[in-house]
Amino acid sequence: MSSRYAKSIAHLERSRKTLAGGVSSNVRAGDMPFPLFFDRGLGSHLWDVDGNEYIDYVLGRGPLFLGHTHQEVIDATCKQLQRGQIYAAQHELEFELSERVSRIVPCAELVRFGISGSEAVHGALRLARAATGRQTIIKFEGQYHGWLDNILYSLSPDLARAGDQLHPDTLPESAGQLNSTDSHLVTLPWNNLPVIEEYLAQHGSTIAAVITEPVMCNTAVIPPLPGYLEALREICTRYEIVLIFDEVITGFRLSLAGAQGFFNIVPDLTIFGKAIANGMPISCLAGKEKYMGLIAAGKVGHGGTYNSIPPAVAGAIATLDVLERDEGAVYKTVTSVGNSLMSGIKHLADKQGIPVVVQGYGTIFYVGFPKTSEAGKPSQAVSDYRSSLGMNQQLYGEFVSAMVDRGVRIIPRGNWFLSSEHTQSDVDATLGAIESVFAEVLSKAVPA
Ligand SMILES: Cc1ncc(COP(=O)(O)O)c(C=O)c1O
Repeated sequence: MSSRYAKSIAHLERSRKTLAGGVSSNVRAGDMPFPLFFDRGLGSHLWDVDGNEYIDYVLGRGPLFLGHTHQEVIDATCKQLQRGQIYAAQHELEFELSERVSRIVPCAELVRFGISGSEAVHGALRLARAATGRQTIIKFEGQYHGWLDNILYSLSPDLARAGDQLHPDTLPESAGQLNSTDSHLVTLPWNNLPVIEEYLAQHGSTIAAVITEPVMCNTAVIPPLPGYLEALREICTRYEIVLIFDEVITGFRLSLAGAQGFFNIVPDLTIFGKAIANGMPISCLAGKEKYMGLIAAGKVGHGGTYNSIPPAVAGAIATLDVLERDEGAVYKTVTSVGNSLMSGIKHLADKQGIPVVVQGYGTIFYVGFPKTSEAGKPSQAVSDYRSSLGMNQQLYGEFVSAMVDRGVRIIPRGNWFLSSEHTQSDVDATLGAIESVFAEVLSKAVPA
């Protein structure tokens, strides 16, 4: 391994002396086999500093729906860079983008732009509390809404401390956060209507918002059960609770109009980031006038030096140009290539007797290896955080490292991102690598 990654190893050692942990985001510290250093990306491929080439299913952890260095996005961004990086004022591209988002996204009557998904989530929570005069927010166990103090709870809680499955405790993910009682958060299990119905029957009038990833992308890409999102919508309306869809991953990925377009459910507020600008730093808080109007009226604060920086907005507009082209043809292409990869993985696992869970959508899906599975019985889908713990993370880590060694870059948590630049030949090469990892690494490790 060391000769394949010699430069990355040396760079990591050097970085650790001045960069905390050698990385700029804790998530990257968990990369397998260790945090590699990259030199350049093009389309669906990436090259590391040692000259190794990878088919990339990380895609910046979601933004690069059009692949690395998409020419139209780069051109639009560079053209704007020549005209200025930041005006700290309005510019014409800004309303061009807000009009586009408003036309495309069902709930987006009014829009504001920021840089990161985390801060847009922060804005949504503030709006919901201001609009309702209530404090408490409901979130779901295993869901991620950014790294800020007000919401970084119960993403991957330790079961020994997480309480009852149906009434989980709300646990901070990081030292330094407020304790759960002061968080004004309630954590419930995802995909479980009776529990939320029961909770709201008692506490509905005290809840400001329900925030949810409409597909639980950050844990096992769990789809909503049939009727679940519809029921959430109805319950929130009934108790006058603000329904927030966090579409930082699903937005402009699951469909042009995100999960809300895909499932045809209109939330009150929504958050976009990542795929909206194919790698340029921009996020978007959008929603119904009833709520966003509080920002417009100056009653609810929203700010940021870098909000709507012109190069990023230009990149977003160019991205939407491509996404909207030919009535969104790109979504059919990505879905079909992704589906082919999903079914190929299942087929190879079945052939080699390796229990596997493959679930999600062609544009984003999850792969995991169950800890135990009765021979001959199909592996169960994962439906919430607790059932995701039935997956063998250690084994998946070995799988990831072996795949990276073979030139396929994937995320240790199990989610795979697809782009418009992934081709059937990428899929074939990926399946070739998987076949060899299944035969050489996994078949020896899988419990009999
Ligand atoms: C669903 C979801 N919400 C919010 C965020 C936070 O976005 P950002 O990393 O841009 O702050 C993420 C990041 O991965 C996310 O997946």
